[in-house]
Amino acid sequence: MIVTIDRLGHLGHGIARDQDSGPIYVPGTLPGEVVEGTLDGDRLIDPKIVTPSPDRVKPPCRHARACGGCQLQHASDAFVAQWKQHVIETALAGQGLTAEFLPLVTSPPNSRRRATLSARRTKSGVLIGFHARASDTIAEIPDCQLLHPGILAAFPGLQALVMAGGSRTTELSLQVTLTRGGPDVVVSGGKALDSALRMDLARLVETHAFSRLTWDGETVALRDRPALTMGQATVVPPPGAFLQATQEGEAALLHAVKHALGPQKRIVDLFSGVGTFTLPLAEKMEVHAVEGDPAMTKALDLAARNTPNLHRISTETRDLFRRPLEPDELLTFTGAVIDPPRAGAEAQTQTLATSKIPVIAAVSCNPVTFARDAKTLIAQGYRLDWVQVVDQFRWSTHIELVARLSRP
Ligand SMILES: C[S@@+](CC[C@H](N)C(=O)[O-])C[C@H]1O[C@@H](n2cnc3c(N)ncnc32)[C@H](O)[C@@H]1O
Repeated sequence: MIVTIDRLGHLGHGIARDQDSGPIYVPGTLPGEVVEGTLDGDRLIDPKIVTPSPDRVKPPCRHARACGGCQLQHASDAFVAQWKQHVIETALAGQGLTAEFLPLVTSPPNSRRRATLSARRTKSGVLIGFHARASDTIAEIPDCQLLHPGILAAFPGLQALVMAGGSRTTELSLQVTLTRGGPDVVVSGGKALDSALRMDLARLVETHAFSRLTWDGETVALRDRPALTMGQATVVPPPGAFLQATQEGEAALLHAVKHALGPQKRIVDLFSGVGTFTLPLAEKMEVHAVEGDPAMTKALDLAARNTPNLHRISTETRDLFRRPLEPDELLTFTGAVIDPPRAGAEAQTQTLATSKIPVIAAVSCNPVTFARDAKTLIAQGYRLDWVQVVDQFRWSTHIELVARLSRP
């Protein structure tokens, strides 16, 4: 069967339209390409590109075919940039909105300082990597173009951890974060801890200079503080706490948030995490940070107290889905940052929309919930000034953005 790819779906698959059978999904293809293959359900298997797109490039990574870590290595950077912007435009159009876009900023290759890898013991040793495409097998990735060299350098230590505490029947998840004290590793799915395993793991943390090891929820070794720099502050995040995936992405998001806010006196940082925005912003303005996870609020609070010369930072642990800040609590702020999880911030946006806060810097990792929340604000008199895509998930379908909303 021969089909022409019409568009990309949200998972990065090419989609061809067939009048008889409905949409046909063809992974690894681009709009405009003519593809030949065998129809299997709603997928075209063994696809051969008959007419390639001018946007097609040779994947920069030699693992691209086998590994499922990246979905868009076969597309040019310009195509990916345009596609990500188009996904946001489509989500906004669904709410009857349009926006002006600032130029997209993409993190460079080999910049992921935080990654979650899959691992398993095998007959001959240990396998660590990302899942292969649409499969539960793990693809090895020694020359990965995504991960920071510091994470790739941690692989021998990670292999030793899996050898010591993994089994051949269960897959482990390894979340690795590069910190000033060395890689901070959070393992789930490992063998149950007993005293022998605890000792083995603690020894491996020393040998491989990891900063901290957390094993199925328990911190089993702390060799050095897993510290991160945020502005002038030093933060020690709790194990597994949310963190922007690349340092460059974090800097681009912060730059856009500062650009959106302009000079301010006192702002509120909603869904503040460990203070990615709060701490650097407090060099210029007072910040009230609100976050649902008490361990993260505590880490932010400690960092704030140990950093001289910041404007006042206050923190609050609060579930902003159930108990959003009410209009009377928003009265004293001259600006707001809001950076919710993928579900968006429906309840908090409703009270923000009725506030008098002149400017909002909205950060989002989900164009659909962003568009829904933007519509709520716009319905109450806010204007969408601009949107900027910050692509810190290079070669993936993941989309991150900052937008400025203001009261005219
Ligand atoms: C996308 S992260 C942003 C964190 C921070 N702004 C940053 O850039 O590092 C979303 C944050 O919202 C927090 N969160 C999730 N659900 C929440 C809720 N219902 N109430 C308050 N905070 C919540 C998470 O713990 C996480 O820190």
